[in-house]
This record gives sequence, structure tokens and C-alpha cells, in this order.
Amino acid sequence: MSATVLEGKFYAAQIKEGIKKDISVLKNKHGITPGLAVIIVGENPASKVYVASKHRSCEEIGIYSEVIELPADVSKEILLAKIAQLNNNDQIHGILVQLPLPDHIKENEAEILNSIDPNKDVDGFHPVNVGKLSIGEEHLVPCTPYGCVKMLELAGIDIEGKNAVIIGRSNIVGKPMFNLLLSRNATVTVCHSRSKDLASITKQADILIAAVGKPHFVTSDMVKPGAVVIDVGINRIAEKKLVGDVDFEQVKQVAGAITPVPGGVGLLTIAMLLHNTVKAACLIHNVTITN
Ligand code: GUN
Repeated sequence: MSATVLEGKFYAAQIKEGIKKDISVLKNKHGITPGLAVIIVGENPASKVYVASKHRSCEEIGIYSEVIELPADVSKEILLAKIAQLNNNDQIHGILVQLPLPDHIKENEAEILNSIDPNKDVDGFHPVNVGKLSIGEEHLVPCTPYGCVKMLELAGIDIEGKNAVIIGRSNIVGKPMFNLLLSRNATVTVCHSRSKDLASITKQADILIAAVGKPHFVTSDMVKPGAVVIDVGINRIAEKKLVGDVDFEQVKQVAGAITPVPGGVGLLTIAMLLHNTVKAACLIHNVTITN
């Protein structure tokens, strides 16, 4: 039997409908246009594509969007000064520094991200927001794991009481995903590169999240029949060929539901960035919204 394919486009459209309504209330009732600033440093081609897509999505939905392009050799001081300016800019409610940073400022990544006002931190990477999530308070939540959980909820997939296994322990995906699933009462296991006998753990999963960054890493022998498989990976294996961390063709024969790459949870990542920008605008202006 073949798995149900969970199409990102379908769920992202539902989320965006809700966001559009909130933006309309913010604009018409409160005179507030939510604003997002994205800082990109250097010329990383993948980052440029992601940032252009974020900018386009903002414009389509009615969020004011600024893309700030800084040269690859920009100093830490100039970058910090730009963030300080944006922290004080009333038109801007969300600030995002696209990662990865160039090598010469990579070691300053924490200092740079921590300089963003936690109420404008639409990536949810600031220690204040990481700490809040870890105590079950969902203030501004990292967009990729948030999108995965939203997709499960919209697809009517119960999380409570399920065995959820996450492959990957990054700060951007694995760790926040752990907290989101735990606070929805799943039993959560996080695996990583040093985990022993990975397949014996992943085969216990009712919900399996792959966030390793290795093409076709998850094969059908690692998946319990009927499991829900969420593929967070985006790996370029040829100039125009993107694949996930899951061997989709194999695993869809075993899983109950599976997300494709491209066209899966990536589309929800952007939807959640728009959501977080509107939420940040509401927090800053002390306005309550519905979504
Ligand atoms: N690079 C890859 N994913 C992300 C993300 O979610 N946020 C930022 N800022 N950079 C990224």
C-alpha cells in the first residue's frame, strides 16, 4: 500500500488564509502594517533563493518586507549596528539574519543572533525564546519545526501518546522539534550521528522526523509500517535536483503518510515565518489575534 502524500502547498494555503485575515484586522482596525527585515551576508546561492522567496511571500500576503544585502567581508560591528537600527525601527516587527554566515563571522553567530530584540526574533533562535519554548511557552517558535507540527495538526494526525523519533539534534530543527512534540504529549527520542543501531530506534516511531541533511538517508527498512514520515531535508544532488533525507520512493511503500521534497514542509517554513512576523507585530503593539 502506498502512503498518503502530505502536500505542503495545501497546508501552507490554509495557514496563509488565517494570516491574511489577521493582517487585514491589524491594518484596518489598528493601522499597523507588519514589517519584516531579512539580512543576508555574502553571496551564498541557496541563501539568496530562500531570501528572495521570503521577500516574495511577504509582498504577496501584505507584509512590508526589506532585504538588507551586506557584503561577504562585512565586519561584525557593522552587522551589529544594522541589527541595533532595526531593533529601533518602528516599521520593522521581525528581524532575521539568514544563515549560514560567512566563515570570518561564523564564530560570532551567537553574539549576532542574541543582539536581535527577542520580541522581533521571528526565527525563534534567541536564548530567551529558546528558553521559553523549553518550559512550554510558545512565544516566537523556530519556523521549520513549527511548520512540521502545524502540518501534523492540520492533517488531523494525533501527536499525544505517540512515539516520535527525531533524527538530528540541531538548534534550528531537532531541539525545538523535541520541545514542540513533548509539549503535545508525545514520547520523544532524539537520535544523532553517534546513536547506535539507529534503525532499531526509528522503527519504533509512529512519527518519524528526518532532519539530518543527508540525501536518501532514511530507507524503508528503518520505518515502521504505517508511520508518519516528515522529511525536513533539502539536499541538492544535481544542479536542478533537490531531494530530502528520506528515500521517498522506497519509504512511501511502507509509511502511512509522508511529506515530499520539494513541495513538503519547506512551504510551511515560510508560512510560519509570516505567522511569526504578524505575531511579533501583535506582541509589540499589544494587540490580540486569533491564529
Ligand atoms: N538558513 C536555513 N534555514 C534557516 C532558518 O530557518 N533561519 C535562518 N535565519 N537561516 C536559515
